[in-house]
Amino acid sequence: MIKRRTLLAAGLAAPALSACATSSAPDYVDNRASLPPLPHDRHSHARPDEARVLHVSLDLTANFALKILEGAATLTIAARPDAREIVLDIDGLDIRNVRTNQGETQWTIGQRRPELGAPLSIALRPGDREITIAYATSPDAGALQWLEPAQTASGKPFLFSQGQAILTRTWAPTQDSPGIRQTYDARIVAPEGLKAVMSAEMLTPNGEASEGGRAYRFRMRNPVPIYLMSLAIGDLEFGAVGQRTGVWAEPSVLQRGLFECADMEAMVRAAEALYGPYRWGRYDVLILPPSFPYGGMENPRLTFLTPTFLAGDRSLVSLIAHELAHSWSGNLVTNAVWSDSWLNEGFTTYFEGRITEALYGVERAAQQNVLAWAEIQEAIRTIPADSQRLHLPEERGAEDNSSAIVYEKGALFLRTLEREVGRPRFDAYLRSYFDRHAFQPMTTARFLADFRERVVQGDAALEQRLQLDAWAFEPGLPSNAEEPRAESFVEVAHFVDHFASHGGAPAAAPWETWGTYERQRYLQTLPRTLARAQLDALESAFGLNNVGNAEVLFDWLSLALSNRYEPALAPTERFLTSMGRGKFVRPLYRALMAQGDWGQPHARRIYARARATYHPIVQGAVDRIVAAS
Ligand code: BES
Ligand code: ZN
Repeated sequence: MIKRRTLLAAGLAAPALSACATSSAPDYVDNRASLPPLPHDRHSHARPDEARVLHVSLDLTANFALKILEGAATLTIAARPDAREIVLDIDGLDIRNVRTNQGETQWTIGQRRPELGAPLSIALRPGDREITIAYATSPDAGALQWLEPAQTASGKPFLFSQGQAILTRTWAPTQDSPGIRQTYDARIVAPEGLKAVMSAEMLTPNGEASEGGRAYRFRMRNPVPIYLMSLAIGDLEFGAVGQRTGVWAEPSVLQRGLFECADMEAMVRAAEALYGPYRWGRYDVLILPPSFPYGGMENPRLTFLTPTFLAGDRSLVSLIAHELAHSWSGNLVTNAVWSDSWLNEGFTTYFEGRITEALYGVERAAQQNVLAWAEIQEAIRTIPADSQRLHLPEERGAEDNSSAIVYEKGALFLRTLEREVGRPRFDAYLRSYFDRHAFQPMTTARFLADFRERVVQGDAALEQRLQLDAWAFEPGLPSNAEEPRAESFVEVAHFVDHFASHGGAPAAAPWETWGTYERQRYLQTLPRTLARAQLDALESAFGLNNVGNAEVLFDWLSLALSNRYEPALAPTERFLTSMGRGKFVRPLYRALMAQGDWGQPHARRIYARARATYHPIVQGAVDRIVAAS
């Protein structure tokens, strides 16, 4: 077992408990005990003001035959002296036994609520500091995808976890709320021939012989929100990019991954120059098999990435900038509840733009801002007013907060603040924001108060210009939102017009010299209704049905399907059966379903083939799309 440092012995009610960083690890911080009380999190059963989990120690074996993880979790806790129980979140876990450092104890599992799972209440006695829970996960745990050999590049089985937002409770019994920061360590037994990696320090690069396979040990010494704890097991190899950066991937994917990720070290340096030191040691990425449901996931020290970002020309690497930026916005300073997820995603999207600007110039960042503006306009047209506020209504599902509002309106808010107060002042503020709130939860109210105190400082004219409350709490866009421009898109607009309004040949457009964002802008701004001959002309001019860039292909297929363009069906089927990224998968099924008798049979036929290869999260979403009609 890993030596664990002594954790808080005193109760939570004790004032000003001192931080307990050890001298051997000066780069990590432990300020959990000095946290102010947490806002109520309706997505967790935990009652952290009475008793909370400080540390999770996992000892699990991956059983690929049964598709379960089994073993034990030992939790180090702090409790108020009068606390009689601690409440954890679990969902679908088979709890076999619970004991504390003082022996057997009483425990009960309460009523399960859809999506939230069930409370596991464990009786506490004075002196109970460690709780060991023997358990196994369910084969359909929402956080885990067990891949068959046919779903991986190596032809070997693969497992990965995805905790955000509230799925960690399906693979580890703990308090699954982003305000409750926990350190962790783990011992994971993987089958011989496969390697385990985690979003943590890897203590045994080659594993150790163990009953039933090889054991890998890990530890995360910074307190993190537990949705960031993640695990992957597969035929994995590592290649270095820089001193502290590198790529994990299946062997046949590694070289392409290393090519695409060549700028990673420079990205970390650019990020540090903006907002201060990277506090997590290494920054590596793991390229997952194509069923990974997201573009990327900012698991600390080890970002998880979709292989669909491998464009062959590094044109989609802003995805890495985004996940890296979360090492500050999200992983250091964390939304305390999911209705404030713009504090994670909006800040990160703003930060991503700054890294992009530093590495690739202002024009590329401007292009992204223009594409984002269109997304915001679309969101304002289509989603309910209540969901257009940055601080979302609490009753919104925790999995339902990834719209253009959270990401792009959030980022536009910060760009507006930057414009109004000036870049030097805004940069200095953000840097101090990350420093002062490092390893702490954040709320919209707390951020606004902090910004007022440090920047506005009672300047009534500035306060009025900023419209802070309108941005945070009102739908739509406040009047100080400014539409961004990108010089390079003027030419794109010209060729859209040339083709769409004047019947010009698409081939006149300098497609070959355009980058990915110009191509996307072109496809996104073409008229939504096109004739068969026009679609034929587009397809043959640019070979759109065979485009390798997933973002460009997606934009083309969306346009083509909404016009019932028959020749796009085969590439749609190829795309939908070769990857499972929700951002592409959901809208394409929606586009097919929207086309009545023309599209619906295709949606059902393709889904019947593809469903088993999708992640549980994406299956759930597409089940609803394909069932509705
Ligand atoms: N943290 C998110 C992924 C996420 C959001 C998982 C909500 C679960 C619930 C990640 O940082 C992200 O934003 N990924 C984006 C890519 C990004 C470039 C916009 C994605 O997956 O598309
Ligand atoms: Zn993000």
